[in-house]
Amino acid sequence: MQFQNTLAFAQKLDQEDTLGKYREEFIFPKVKDKEVIYFTGNSLGLQPKLAKSYIEGVMEDWAELAVEGHFHGERPWWDYHERLAAPLAKVVGARKEEVSVMNTLTVNLHLLMVSFYRPSKKRFKILCEEKAFPSDQYMLQSQVRFHGLDPKDVIVEVKKRAGEHFWRTNDVLSKIDEIGGELALVLMGGVNYYNGQVLDMETITKAGKQVGAHVGWDLAHAVGNVALQLHDWNVDFAAWCSYKYMNSGPGNASGIFVNKKHLNKKNIPRFEGWWGTKKETRFLMKPEFEPMENADAWQLSNPPVLALAPYLASLRLFEEAGMPALIEKRDKITAYLEFILMEINKETEDTFEVITPKDRGCQLSVLLHGHGKRLFNYLIANGVITDWREPNVIRLAPAPFYCSYMDMYRFGQILKKGIRSKTV
Ligand SMILES: Cc1ncc(COP(=O)(O)O)c(C=O)c1O
Repeated sequence: MQFQNTLAFAQKLDQEDTLGKYREEFIFPKVKDKEVIYFTGNSLGLQPKLAKSYIEGVMEDWAELAVEGHFHGERPWWDYHERLAAPLAKVVGARKEEVSVMNTLTVNLHLLMVSFYRPSKKRFKILCEEKAFPSDQYMLQSQVRFHGLDPKDVIVEVKKRAGEHFWRTNDVLSKIDEIGGELALVLMGGVNYYNGQVLDMETITKAGKQVGAHVGWDLAHAVGNVALQLHDWNVDFAAWCSYKYMNSGPGNASGIFVNKKHLNKKNIPRFEGWWGTKKETRFLMKPEFEPMENADAWQLSNPPVLALAPYLASLRLFEEAGMPALIEKRDKITAYLEFILMEINKETEDTFEVITPKDRGCQLSVLLHGHGKRLFNYLIANGVITDWREPNVIRLAPAPFYCSYMDMYRFGQILKKGIRSKTV
């Protein structure tokens, strides 16, 4: 499609947008009485209007039923989390029994490492990308030290090539081959938080499995953003947070995926708690742990119902809209944003560069040559909510659920003024 950087063209794209109606389902903050242009759905998704009523439903049950709310009411609490598994399984390409919701992301990665990082004398190395999200780095390093090993001997990072802003799949595959029988685990971010690159998860998983390693993915920036087929790709495990593209609210609960082939194993190493033991016998309060037959076996505690309520509300919208339609709009609106950026770049004489490769979701990371924080501050002051990453990058994520083509056009106009103005 031949794009145009005009108001009329952006309006036409909005009129043709079958997902356009969902914008109304979300609450936009305002700056100077105008709804913001929201580019930070990759950090914290907007609040779905439905979320409040789901939380209120729990509050009402608590008021009216108190402890009885665990087993009575419209959505009893003791198995509240189970309602999230089926819709989430669709989002990540899993069987329902392979998905559970619990804790938060870094906590879940630690718990899954207990099961899937079992270093031996011969096989102990971990492969990840250089400059992985810091929490993942701390998690890996502390796990390695916990096993009495030195991170320097264990963690191997795949580097980007000099002068390039992205990872090459072949470089990942070569590292896997090189480490071979010493490789215990591949654990990477499916979509990189900094440059927005989508790694070839299918190919990397296959290569890791071929040398006998476990393969896991941190899907914080992937879930609700890119097409995932965790079961078919034969991924061992994955975890993600829900507050970015899943729009479930700040710091909210994390999802996990554990491949079916690892379920129902009594002897798998795992940290256990009472919500992982069989429902049928849980309240007999026996000392023996009998694992649930699904990924809930990794659950420790009774579910944080007030947190799960807005997540469930958000999943209703995902069920309705469907990932294929979201991905179709994502590609179009991201391409339109890129086109607008390039148009403004031409008009303002090469002031920035998009460092996100073509394998991408909806995030474009823009390297600002020479403008830096001043331009970022100008955007924020003028109602464009984006974020800043050191040393000189802004990330723009036009989440297809609620961003419009008009937003992209308006952003272009504000950006142009910002580049030309000398002040915030
Ligand atoms: C890629 C990635 N991994 C891990 C985390 C940490 O998540 P949490 O604070 O929920 O543990 C984040 C948070 O933004 C992230 O983007």
